Amino acid sequence: MCGIVGYVGTRRVVPILLEGLRRLEYRGYDSAGLVYQHEGKLVRYRAEGKLINLENTVDENIGVASSTGIGHTRWATHGAPTEMNAHPHTDCTGELVVVHNGIIENYNTLKKDLLARGHVFSSETDTEVLAHLIEEHLDDDLEEAVRKALTLVEGSYALGVLWAKEPEMIVAARNHSPLVMGVGEDACYIASDVPALLPYTKDVIFLDDKEMTVLRKGEYTITTVDDTTPLNKPVTTIEWNAAMAEKAGYRHFMLKEIFEQPQAILNTVSGRIVPDTGMIELPEIGLDDIAIKSIERIALVACGTSWHAALIAKYWIEKWVGIPVEVDIASEFRYRSLLINDKVLTISISQSGETADTLAGIRRAAQMGSKILTICNVVGSTMTREADGVIYTHAGPEIGVASTKAFTSQLAALFLLTLYLGQVRGTMDSEQRIVYGAALIDLAKTIEELLPRLQEEIAALIESFYDSRDFLFVARGMNFPIALEGALKLKEISYIHAEGYAAGELKHGPIALIDKDMPVMGLVPQDEVYQKSVSNLEEIKARQGRLVLIGTAGDEHLSNLTEHVLYLPKVIDDLNPILYTIPAQLLSYEIANRRGCDVDQPRNLAKSVTVE
Ligand code: F6R
Repeated sequence: MCGIVGYVGTRRVVPILLEGLRRLEYRGYDSAGLVYQHEGKLVRYRAEGKLINLENTVDENIGVASSTGIGHTRWATHGAPTEMNAHPHTDCTGELVVVHNGIIENYNTLKKDLLARGHVFSSETDTEVLAHLIEEHLDDDLEEAVRKALTLVEGSYALGVLWAKEPEMIVAARNHSPLVMGVGEDACYIASDVPALLPYTKDVIFLDDKEMTVLRKGEYTITTVDDTTPLNKPVTTIEWNAAMAEKAGYRHFMLKEIFEQPQAILNTVSGRIVPDTGMIELPEIGLDDIAIKSIERIALVACGTSWHAALIAKYWIEKWVGIPVEVDIASEFRYRSLLINDKVLTISISQSGETADTLAGIRRAAQMGSKILTICNVVGSTMTREADGVIYTHAGPEIGVASTKAFTSQLAALFLLTLYLGQVRGTMDSEQRIVYGAALIDLAKTIEELLPRLQEEIAALIESFYDSRDFLFVARGMNFPIALEGALKLKEISYIHAEGYAAGELKHGPIALIDKDMPVMGLVPQDEVYQKSVSNLEEIKARQGRLVLIGTAGDEHLSNLTEHVLYLPKVIDDLNPILYTIPAQLLSYEIANRRGCDVDQPRNLAKSVTVE
């Protein structure tokens, strides 16, 4: 998600910025830009698409001697991936520029105030608000102006600021988005991530939330947004090589992305729940209250992992909103006889927004008069352009082919949608929305605390299972789709044959498979179908199936059924599908890794399936 590079020193800045941005390409981006100081002015270049487009526009001859600048690769969140929305963004004078990674949650309110004060905007981004807000406070002290502006900002940011009147200075700050400083001889750097710095320095300082830094040639001060007292932060010497650094030290992108899930969930809910009132805000949904109240049925359309998210949403929406929901695999939906009309809301769920079958499905539903809402992770993708409304998941780019953080972010977005529909149709009162909204935010923290322990336990557990030929996953109720997802994840990346079943279905056929060689992962939280699930597990045990159970902390009954039990904290029942996804992902990951599989790029699979 967005890459930032900044340099102030004695060398030519443009090649350093371009090389730094190239080393951040793995983060994903859809446009790029850079700016450097030249004879008291700022020279800015921006381009849509790949870095090569930016390189082709930069006239290095102008700023050949320039040695201060910042660059940016943008992963669109607010506004399409166009040149106009690419960073750096300027204030009204063009003398101040900002690059930013993160989301300014209160940008709408800030923008309204700034427009009223005469500021003129030239992009659709939340970032541009920062440039004008700093301008508003700028007298002759850039550091102070940035500090004042940031006290007004809610949300996440890593940012770099340049001002034409301070030709050898960069001001940078971070809050909930990564930013690292590099320290070299006669030079200072900033970057979103270490790989951008490795050709130049291995000495770095990791900035923490709400910290600010002022960089000059070979000298810097670090303070906080709220306090001007200089901080003395340790310099860390990086031992990683470039490949390790891209993955922030994780063995694979998939593992990194599993660990990024708490932040991805938080980014997805950020700014959309008002904690005190339980108001859910989804301004880009594209449906007014009258349209929402007139929905008679919802059709959810998706493929693969995204289809599993749809299956869970059916449980949530029917339970809390009372609208009938049908769920289709898009490749079926696009060809079967459909009963769709203008009273049906069709919702596509797609990480990429480009999946051919899903796209064909929503086009067909639109032709039949249905409004289209899409839940998507890629701003400006075809689906988001064709839909009447969008709920973006803000998971950031997912590089591992097997979907992990995009899936749990889809679930977070679908849960928000459930609360929103309940709010508009009056089926959930504010008290319920306050409780469920807070529980979703708390879940991110719970997962963050859980991940390291769970990974250790699962890495030990898979020694008994990694060479299995088959695997079953079973669950009931709203966790049943997680059994399907667990099985899909395992087969995708480890090539073990795996199936997911609703536990109550076992005795209708699959139980014939159970014997002493068949591992069965049971997802059994203490929810309303717990007792029923336990009965099914007893049946598996009676046939010598090898149970691996994931259940609620303190549930001793599970350890009577098997020695392989992993305990998860108790959360509200509706959020168990998100929580129980985590061990299913880690189990698949650890088994695939143990088997020596190419975890990030499994055979025969593509990240985006744009053909039928
Ligand atoms: C599995 C996986 C796929 C995708 C499916 C739909 O890990 O990633 O099953 O979920 O190809 O892709 P999107 O969500 O981009 O429409």
